[in-house]
Amino acid sequence: AFRGSILYFTGDPQCDDQAVVWHEDGLLLLNGETIVASGAYASLRDKLPEHISLTDYSGKLIMPGFVDTHVHYPQTDIIASPAEGLLPWLETYTFPAESQFGDHEYAQEVAAFFLDELLKNGTTTAMVYSTVHKESADAFFGISHQRNLRMVTGKVLMDRNCPDYLQDTAESGARDSEDLIRKWHGRGRQLYALTPRFAPCSTNEQLGLTGELARQYPDTFIQTHVAENKDECAWARSLFPSARSYLDIYDQFGLMRERAMYAHCIWLDETDTRRMAETGSAISVCPTSNLFLGSGLFDFSSAEQHQVRLSIATDVGGGTSFSMLQTMNEMHKVARMGGYHLNALRMFYYATLGGAKAMQLEHQIGTLQAGTEADFIVLNPKATQLLSRRTENADSLEEMLFAIAMLGDDRTIEATYAAGIRQK
Ligand code: GUN
Ligand code: FE
Repeated sequence: AFRGSILYFTGDPQCDDQAVVWHEDGLLLLNGETIVASGAYASLRDKLPEHISLTDYSGKLIMPGFVDTHVHYPQTDIIASPAEGLLPWLETYTFPAESQFGDHEYAQEVAAFFLDELLKNGTTTAMVYSTVHKESADAFFGISHQRNLRMVTGKVLMDRNCPDYLQDTAESGARDSEDLIRKWHGRGRQLYALTPRFAPCSTNEQLGLTGELARQYPDTFIQTHVAENKDECAWARSLFPSARSYLDIYDQFGLMRERAMYAHCIWLDETDTRRMAETGSAISVCPTSNLFLGSGLFDFSSAEQHQVRLSIATDVGGGTSFSMLQTMNEMHKVARMGGYHLNALRMFYYATLGGAKAMQLEHQIGTLQAGTEADFIVLNPKATQLLSRRTENADSLEEMLFAIAMLGDDRTIEATYAAGIRQK
C-alpha cells in the first residue's frame, strides 16, 4: 500500500471536469502486479489488510506511469547530434547508428540502457522503433520481458531509398515481422507494432504486404512517420504520385485503423485530419523533435476540432529529452505559438490515459483504477529548490502541475513502479 496524493484521469479533462480524480491524502493498494483499490486515505484505511507494508509518500504525487507513444531505442546514442534538418540528420547520424543492431548482444546492451533511461524519467510504457534487423526487436523484447514492462516495438520495414546495409525486401520484411508477431505479440506484457519507417523508404509491395499483415493481425499496432517536414512531404508525394496526400499513401494500403500511431502529423490538410478521426488512428505529437529538427509546429486547434486521438512522444533521438515533463514544457510552447492554451491537466492526461487510449490500452495502463496494471510513478514537487518555491505558493492543482511540467525533469521522478515492482 502507498499513501500520498493520488492523481489520475477517467477521461479527457477538456471535455469533462469530472474526469480528474484527485485525493490530496490518498491511498493506492496493490495485489502483486495489479491495482486493487485507489482513493481517499480516510475511506480506504479500514480496508487495509493487517500487517500490510505501507510506504509513505505523503506530500508527493502518485500517478500512472507515463506513456511515450513514439521513440527510437537505437537512436539513444545519437541523441543531440547537430544536423541541418530531418533528411540530413537521417543520413549523417541515424542510418549509420542503426547499422549496428544486427548484433544481438549490442542491441541488448543499448535496450537495457534505454529502458533504464525511460524508467528514470517515469515512463513505463513506450511505443518503440527497433531497426530493420529482426535481432534488434527480438533483443528489445527479451530485455523488456525480463523486467515485466508493458512495451511495444517492431522491426523497421525499409526496402528502398536507404543504405544497402539497412535494407530488407518486401518479402523478408513481412516474413520477419510475422515471425516476431508469433514469438512476442501478447507474450507477457510485450506487444508488436508493424513498423514501416515512412513511405519514402518502402515500395508499393512492402506497404501492400504490411497492410495485409495489419488485416491478418488486427490487434497488432502500426507505427510510422507522416508529414513531419516539408522536404520529406515533397519527396513522399513525388514517389507516390497517385495518392491524394502523404497520409493517403498509408490509407490506400489499409494502414489507417485503430491501434495505428502516426508520428508528427504537422503538414496534414483537413481531409487528412478527418481521416485520422474516422479511422480511429492516433497522433504522436513530438514537440522536442519538431523544434530540434526545425520540422514545424503541430496544430492543436485542428486536432481538437476533428477530435483526433492525441498522445505525447519524445521521439528520441530526433527528440532531445527522455523526460515527458520536458516534452510537456515544449508542447505547451508549441501550442502557445499557435495561439492555443494547453493546460497542465490536459498535458498530464495525454501523457497517461490519453496515450493509453490512443493505443487502446486504457483497460491495462494509464490509470490507477482497480483491476489495472500497477505501473505508477511518484513525483516530488519539492525535488529542486526552485520547483519547491514555486509549488509551495501554487494556488491550485493546475498551478502545481503546470510548474512541474515547466520545471520538472528526471529529478522530479522520485520513484517508478512497473507491475508493482520498484524500478527507480
Ligand atoms: N522519418 C523517418 N525516419 C525517421 C526517424 O528516425 N526519426 C524521425 N524523427 N523522423 C523520421
Ligand atoms: Fe521518429
